[in-house]
This record gives sequence, C-alpha cells and structure tokens, in this order.
Amino acid sequence: MKIILIGAPGAGKGTLAATLKDKLDYLHISTGDLLRFEMKNNTDLGLEAKKYIDNGELVPDQLVTKLIEKKLSSDECRQKGCLLDGYPRTDQQAKDLDAILENLGEQIDYVLYLEASLPVVIQRLTGRRVCKQCGKLYHVVNMPPKQENVCDACGGSLYQRSDDNEETIKTRMEVYKSKTASIIEFYKSQNKIHQLDADRAPHDVHSEAIRIINEG
Ligand code: AP5
Repeated sequence: MKIILIGAPGAGKGTLAATLKDKLDYLHISTGDLLRFEMKNNTDLGLEAKKYIDNGELVPDQLVTKLIEKKLSSDECRQKGCLLDGYPRTDQQAKDLDAILENLGEQIDYVLYLEASLPVVIQRLTGRRVCKQCGKLYHVVNMPPKQENVCDACGGSLYQRSDDNEETIKTRMEVYKSKTASIIEFYKSQNKIHQLDADRAPHDVHSEAIRIINEG
C-alpha cells in the first residue's frame, strides 16, 4: 500500500506519518528528512539543496525525484507499505511518481489531504522543535518534551529547523499555494483524495486517517 500525505507546511504531515508508521508498520519517506540528511552530511546534493531550503523554495524536481525513485525501488519499500510525506509537491513530480510506480507495477492507494488553517500552521511551525538524534517532533506548547530541549525518546538535544523562521515560513506558504496546491486537483481527478480537518489534535487526525484506510 502506498499513501501520500499532502498539506501545507506545518499541517502535521510528519506528525501523522510518525503515528501511522508505528500503527501500520509502514515506511515513512519524507523528502524533507532525506534532503536534511544530505545537508547534514555536506554531500553535493545537500549543499545544492540547502540553497533552496533555507530560502523556502522547492529543490529542483529532478533532484528530489531521483532520491524518491531510489527509495521506492528498494526491497524494503517494495515489501512494506509506504507513507510519502512531502512528495510529490509539483505537477511534474506527481506525473513522475505515477511513471515510477507504473514501472514497478504499483500505484498510489490513498492521498490524505491535511487541511489546516493559516494561523494554526504558523503557530505550529514557529514552535516546532526536532530531536537532532532521532528526528522525533515536538512543539514548545502543543507537544513539549518532559525536560526542556531534551528528547523523551532518546535523550538527544532538540533544535529549531533553519527554515522555521517567520520570513522563510512566509515564502514556504506562498510556494505551497502556487506550486503544490494544484496537485490536489490531480489526485481528485483520480478519485484518490481524502480530506481531513488537520486543525484538530494529533490523536483525532490519526483516528480519522485510520478510519479512511480501514474503510478502503
Ligand atoms: P519538509 O520537511 O517536507 O517541510 P514542509 O512540507 O514545509 O512540512 P513541515 O515538515 O514543515 O510540516 P509538517 O506538515 O510535516 O508538520 P509537522 O508534523 O512537522 O520540506 C522542507 C523543504 O525541503 C521544502 O521547503 C523544500 O525546500 C524541500 N523539499 C522537500 N520535499 C520537496 C519536494 N518534494 N520537492 C522539492 N523540494 C522539496 O508539525 C509541525 C509542528 O506542529 C510540530 O511541532 C508538531 O509537533 C506540531 N503539530 C503537528 N500536528 C499537530 C496537531 N494536530 N496539533 C497540534 N500540534 C501539531
């Protein structure tokens, strides 16, 4: 089973993917995480991606699609279900994804569209903290760690993403509206979209996603 999570920055794609992954024993494939991993390791791809990510712009389609194709073709991904978080993000990526899956004899089963309001996503992004070691997500108000700046799960220290500042968030929102929102129509035309009210608490969003998946 292949499930896409679509939504504006801060809609809660990563948070939902983390709980669905545990519940369903799926792979969580986040292009944002894959690119940040490359950046952390100062690879050529990471250095190239940083120029775009720090400005809130999208990394060129061909670079991201290459990363995704490699992941989707891996044995692990072919044996398990996959949650695609942050990909596709442009009309071209949506078409590329269909072509990659067709080659593999697979398809997208569900597209979960997390619809969240602007004040909610701004509050979420400005307060987000991430564990440096295991990547677990926190929020200083909504989901604080037990001990300030320390990950509950692994004891790692928490950091704020370089693109979670007000100016870059503004650009990311504009980029989402101009380049990503249209893929919702693309998946509507394939009858795959399921819309969820993502302003609600994580538990409610998770329960609704599970209901959609179980109802088939
Ligand atoms: P990426 O990492 O994908 O960022 P994004 O899409 O902007 O999404 P976020 O990770 O910011 O938000 P999210 O929806 O996952 O929310 P989260 O669950 O963390 O991409 C970063 C950059 O990489 C892009 O700008 C681009 O440059 C590049 N990139 C990535 N993919 C690309 C692609 N395909 N093509 C080209 N470029 C690409 O939650 C946010 C906060 O809210 C957390 O603190 C969380 O604790 C809290 N929270 C979450 N849900 C709830 C809830 N229900 N209630 C209360 N609080 C909540």
